[in-house]
Amino acid sequence: MSDLEDLYQELILDHSRHPRNFGHIEKPTCEAQGYNPLCGDKINLSIKIQDGVINDVKFEGSGCAISTAAASMLTEEMKGKKINEVDPIFQAFHSLVTGSDKKTDIDLGKLASMEGVKEFPMRVKCATLSWHTLKAALEKKEEIVSTE
Ligand code: FES
Repeated sequence: MSDLEDLYQELILDHSRHPRNFGHIEKPTCEAQGYNPLCGDKINLSIKIQDGVINDVKFEGSGCAISTAAASMLTEEMKGKKINEVDPIFQAFHSLVTGSDKKTDIDLGKLASMEGVKEFPMRVKCATLSWHTLKAALEKKEEIVSTE
């Protein structure tokens, strides 16, 4: 394993053991619940938006190490992003974790550490649960969004 792979593993472990932005925002602009029916894990994302920019985002719920680390990284990476930046980033992240060869010039930052998920197709839903939830929250979907 290369040093870089080691580092990425460390990053995922660190975020799963010490999730950032864990909790619920008071009076959020929008929020949504996500559900992975394959394992029963649930997540809630609450978001504060001002002038089209994500000012704050928090998550809560229980999930596996991958889903927790992915949600934690999502909250860090999405703070300060414009709403219209979310979709292209999600598409790039989805391509990364599914191993798609779609070309993108989007810098995924810490999210790039999730690339190893592409070797484990069953875990793609773990890595994307928080992203589906984020999209549902921004689209103000009332029903619980499922990864299926
Ligand atoms: Fe449930 Fe990963 S096993 S989200």
